[in-house]
Parts: sequence; C-alpha cells; structure tokens
Amino acid sequence: MTAPFDVPQGQFRGHAQQHVWQETPDPELTEVGPGTPCGEYLRRYWMPVAMTEQVGDLPFRLRLLGEDLVLFRETREGRLGLVHLHCRHRNMSLEFGIVEEGGIRCSYHGWKYGMDGTVLDTPCEPPASGVKGKACLGAYPVIEYKGLVFAYMGPGDAIPPFPVMDTFDEAGDEMIPYLIHSPCNWLQVMENAWDPFHVVFLHTKAVRTQFIDAFAEMPMIEFFERPYGDFYTNTRRVDDIVWIRIHDKMLPSFTQNGGHFPVPEESRHFGRCGLSRWVTPVDDTNTMVIAWRHFREGDDPRGLTDREEVGVGKTDFYGQSGDRPYELRQRDPGDYDAWVSQGPKNVHARENLAFTDRGVAKVRRKLREAIRSVAAGEPAPQPALAYETSPIPTYGGDTMLRIPRQEGRDDGAVLKEVAHKVAAIYIAADALQGEERRAQIVADLQAYEAGWQ
Ligand code: FES
Ligand SMILES: [Fe+2]
Repeated sequence: MTAPFDVPQGQFRGHAQQHVWQETPDPELTEVGPGTPCGEYLRRYWMPVAMTEQVGDLPFRLRLLGEDLVLFRETREGRLGLVHLHCRHRNMSLEFGIVEEGGIRCSYHGWKYGMDGTVLDTPCEPPASGVKGKACLGAYPVIEYKGLVFAYMGPGDAIPPFPVMDTFDEAGDEMIPYLIHSPCNWLQVMENAWDPFHVVFLHTKAVRTQFIDAFAEMPMIEFFERPYGDFYTNTRRVDDIVWIRIHDKMLPSFTQNGGHFPVPEESRHFGRCGLSRWVTPVDDTNTMVIAWRHFREGDDPRGLTDREEVGVGKTDFYGQSGDRPYELRQRDPGDYDAWVSQGPKNVHARENLAFTDRGVAKVRRKLREAIRSVAAGEPAPQPALAYETSPIPTYGGDTMLRIPRQEGRDDGAVLKEVAHKVAAIYIAADALQGEERRAQIVADLQAYEAGWQ
C-alpha cells in the first residue's frame, strides 16, 4: 500500500551537519577575564564603564572584564573611585560599604580605603597592628567626562593618555550618553559595526525601513588606514547625489558612524557622526554598548531622533535593546536580535565568511595581531600617542555631492573615484583643528563638487 502523502525528497543534511555544533568559540578573541590574552590587551585602554548618573550616594556594584568591582563617589570633592568588590580584611562586599571623604569604608569592621585602594584606617585594630601598611585593595583610575565614567584596568605603571577625539567637543553639538546591556560576547557586538552590508538587509529589505530607504542600495566600501585605526567609506548613488557615509573604527572597540538620519537629497559637506560608541565587555557572555548620541542642528531633517529616548538602557534608534516583545523581535528584528542570537559566544568555526564579510575578517585579523603583540610584551599602541595633535582628527559622518552620472563612464568607477577624493580631502586637513579644519574640508569638497557640473 502506498503512503497517503509524499515523503519529502532532497538533500537533507541535518545529520551530516551535526558535527558543526561540536565546534567551540575562539578563546583568543572572546575570553576577557584577568590573565587571558584578550583580557590583558583590552586592559591597556581607557574604556567607558558606566554613566555618571548611575552612581548616586551609594556604592554602585558592577562587573567589568570578568572582575567584580564597586564604583563610588567620595564625599569631599565628589571624585569617583573604582575598586575590587571585596574588602581585603575578610571579604565583605563593599557594595554595602560606607562612602566617605576621600574613600570608602567597609561596614563589617571599618577598614577604610583611599581612592587608590590604600588602607587608610583600621579602627578595630590595636595601635601596634601593622596590617594597615601591609594590605591594600585593588583599585583602578577613573575619569568622568560628559556623563560617562571611563576606567583604565591595566598595569598601574603604564596609564595611557586619554584619547580625546575631535567629535567630543564640537560647537553646537549636544551629546547625550546611553548604556545598553547585551547578553552575549563583546566581539559579536563590536563586529556589527564592521559589517556595513547588514544595513541593506536587516535594516531595510528584511522587513521594513528601520532607518532610511536609501540604505537599500548596496554600498561600495573602501577602507582607509590612519595613524591609529581606520575609516571606511560607504558610497551610494541616489539619483544625482553621490552619498559618502564614513565610519571610524579604532581598536579595541571605538566606532563612529554616519549621521542619524541624513537624507541624501541635496549636497551636504562634512556632516558629522550620530554616534561615538564603545563596546565594553562585562564578562565573556555579557557586554555593554556605551556611547554618546550627538544632536546637532540640521542633522535630522525628517525628525526621526528623540533626545528623551536616550539614557540608561535605551537609545532613540530601533532595535538596540531587548525591551521589545518577543513577537515584535521576531517580526522586525534589529541589531540586538542579530548579535545576541548568534549565541552567548559566537562560534567562528561554524561560519562561512563571504565577500561582504571583509570588514569582519579584517577586524578579527587586526585584533588577533594586537592581542599577540601585547602577549609578547610589546606596548599596546595608543590612539593619543599616534597623533601629534589633540584632539585626534576623526572622519565619521556624511558627505553628499551633486555629481550626475557621467556620459560614457562606468558609474562604479565614478563612485570609487569620488570616495577616494573625498577621503583625501578629509585626510589633507588632519593637521588643522576645530572650525579651521571644518572650513577647509567644506571648501575643498565644494570646489571638488563644482568641478563635476
Ligand atoms: S571584612 Fe571589611 S573590615 Fe572586616
Ligand atoms: Fe545595524
């Protein structure tokens, strides 16, 4: 008797592919705890660790690079301190400590620690006790800047200068910080910014336009190396406009993207980034995105941004956190759903990297080289030391030039030529600062654009 249904026929390879799930994550790039090669590398850089508004009059417990810590604001001058969580007397947690002038005191037997972890007081000990001079608590230097708290968790004898970018202090720019947790490894959150092609599908063609329709066009990507880090140009033609969207990339995790949300309908010269963003590992399977959103006059012609939506656990563009209902995340997934669903730690051995993954392949290669170099005893290159000037010139943002299709010329070749020329104009102004640099770049872009008319 024949079956009352058709048995599916095909190449079904589920059984043959089961071995894929035995593959394991790459520890060199994903393990961030104390003593790991990647963890040691990451500890050579200043990184944002919290928003200042998270630290009230009580100690604020947090976890960074697999270490349990407490951040507190001492009461004399309001300085921030960052110390290991457990008291060095008998390990009571300092999240229950007493914040005082110039330090924090453990509430169990009263040991008081200064901002650098020195034991200042042991009130229960007799005068002859020498423990005060022997014990100390682990502490890290902290900088508070524009609503963010930055820490350096590397060796105390090699504190690097803090890298100040040109985008951190622009006239007419309101910077609002935000911080969002993701339950996954830091690398997959970071790699999302090195993958310009997901914008075409995930953010535009998959379900609906999450940002702007013009993202549906495949961009031409060109990479440019700088004294520290890279930038890449995403070039698209939108009718008569050639739109060059520039993203800054600096290891270990700093990125600046283009503007939020530019409309490629008219010329725009040296528009700046919508986001200055870091990816800070909490531990191997938890991560924080910590960033400033930039708000400037004229950046958002369609009114798609919202300052009120930017802060602890939230930002004003779609799909950056897990606070949407599961069904909505399934029907309209965003960046958060992409990077978190790759797993607690993405397994690279299961992937099939393709042509459009050159940014991802590049960042893994550069990261691996940097981690190995630090493991071999070399100093970690520092952005603030790679330039003779401060602030550091960056490039992130959008330029749009009116350049019609050229009779008899391949348009891809035109776009490539324009991208390289625009990059060269930006780079040529590296030694200038502030308004002078902006004016030079704008003038050069306008002159270049005029040459195509
Ligand atoms: S455990 Fe902290 S003072 Fe004793
Ligand atoms: Fe994205």
